[in-house]
Amino acid sequence: MISHFKHSVSLLFINLVFFGWLNAQTYAKNGMVVSANKLSSQTGVDILKQGGNAVDAAIATAFSLAVTHPTAGNIGGGGFMVFMNAQGETTTIDFREKAPLASSETMFLDEEGNIKDNSNHKGLLAVGVPGTVAGLYLAHQKYGKLPWNDLVQPAIDLAENGFALNWDLFGAAQYFNSIAEEYPFMATYFKNEKGELTQPNEIWKQQALANTLKKIRDRGRDGFYKGEVAQKIEDYMKANGGIITAEDLLKYEAIERKPIKGTYKGYDIYGMPPPSSGGATLIQMMNTMELVDWDKVEFNSTEYVHILTETMRRAYADRAEFLGDPDFNPDMPIDRLISKEHAKKRFANLNMEKASVSDSTKFGQIYDGTNTTHFSVIDKDGNAISLTYTLENGYGVKMGSKELGFIFNNEMGDFNPVPGITTSGWQIGTKPNLIAPQKRMLSSMTPTIVAKEGKPYLIIGSPGGRTIINTVFQTTLNVLEFNMRIDKAIEAMKIHHQWSPDVISYEEHLMSPDTRKTLEKMGHTLRATGGLGALMGITINPETGIITGASDSSRPEGAAIGY
Ligand code: GLY
Repeated sequence: MISHFKHSVSLLFINLVFFGWLNAQTYAKNGMVVSANKLSSQTGVDILKQGGNAVDAAIATAFSLAVTHPTAGNIGGGGFMVFMNAQGETTTIDFREKAPLASSETMFLDEEGNIKDNSNHKGLLAVGVPGTVAGLYLAHQKYGKLPWNDLVQPAIDLAENGFALNWDLFGAAQYFNSIAEEYPFMATYFKNEKGELTQPNEIWKQQALANTLKKIRDRGRDGFYKGEVAQKIEDYMKANGGIITAEDLLKYEAIERKPIKGTYKGYDIYGMPPPSSGGATLIQMMNTMELVDWDKVEFNSTEYVHILTETMRRAYADRAEFLGDPDFNPDMPIDRLISKEHAKKRFANLNMEKASVSDSTKFGQIYDGTNTTHFSVIDKDGNAISLTYTLENGYGVKMGSKELGFIFNNEMGDFNPVPGITTSGWQIGTKPNLIAPQKRMLSSMTPTIVAKEGKPYLIIGSPGGRTIINTVFQTTLNVLEFNMRIDKAIEAMKIHHQWSPDVISYEEHLMSPDTRKTLEKMGHTLRATGGLGALMGITINPETGIITGASDSSRPEGAAIGY
């Protein structure tokens, strides 16, 4: 009996040590998908097992998340994909939404020049022309391997056959039911065939969404941007005060762009160029980190928080001043911003005794949503995808056509709404990100791939609106500088400072009160927040090829699944 017990204990020990049961990270040899929903991570892994490459798996995962994680997974929004192939070649796909043809710089303002009724976030004027289907289709045309139909079908199956409603979705269902008059589409969205609210673990089906996905499956991008779906979108917009037309949809194009590249102590960092501010701002901050003497600065110390805060303040000020859609701002000083010289200048005026002051008479920040979603993929050949996409706020504009079954974004809120007016709070009025027809709004999404000796080493990204760049930045630093394994790097205490408002947000209970008090004495203002980021990350051991992945515990439905 005792020897049997001992045998079981030692077997358990072997399992814990070698198979990682002790860890919050998943191990794999062949491939992995880490996303905010386990069903969708499984969708991606199934595609890998069928012989699909990382691009195929990413496309299938993205369509699947539009069904399982509709707060941010979408076909009615947009996003960015960073791709590194097994040979170390990199590219990106920009499928950010665009302003409609009928939009204008002052479209959200009343006669006094004030924003009318929050209209840049609420109501159909806030909707940008969706980019997701065009982006996924372009990625498939250029880099996919399996037939397109096979990549859309799993999402159709999930929508048509349904899946057990999780508690997260049930919470949303209850919330929208309680404000049914404000958002009638959302109030019916979670109802079952009997017209009752779907209960936790009850099978939730989305037939209208399945029908729209079938058109995309059969006709590719044309299934969304031309014909019946496009016409229904135009009709819905016209009937409900929106301005997106069939012509807007026809004209929408996703774009392949050269990634933005930086380095950190021998690692190569590849990120998203504008219209995302993510890549440039991340690289600017990593350049500053190279100047820190880490033998003298401990992780999580007062000095650490101070240096990171001052780095964030400076990088976000540059972001506010210079960045926007490159197709409308050909002269953005990107090369200067991501240069090592610029980091040196920014680092030189950092006072280690005292907080500096954000001069928000010049610039500020607009509010942007936190309900984006990120996933990371690696396949058996070493092709890697880092993809972040969004509807902007949770469930976007919270409106959609019952016939089409998907939710529209409210991404127009990411433009600067009042030309020339910048406040010390959230609002910014600089030119690069003012509204213009067909322009893409500036984003903070930061899908990132770090390479070591030309091979993917870290695949990382997060939702979180303006906080995204900072949570990706700190997780990257945790892996590259502090050698943390991926689950620890994701869970470690994070802070956020975005220049204006001049406040450090920190994760409640994770910062020592002594550190907080010392920082306050130095002139910093601090505010506790429930959590920062929902990082979905993968690391690949360059010597053994072993893949490890972890999904942030802030997304309990998320999972790293490998094989
Ligand atoms: N809507 C969030 C972002 O693009 O940064």
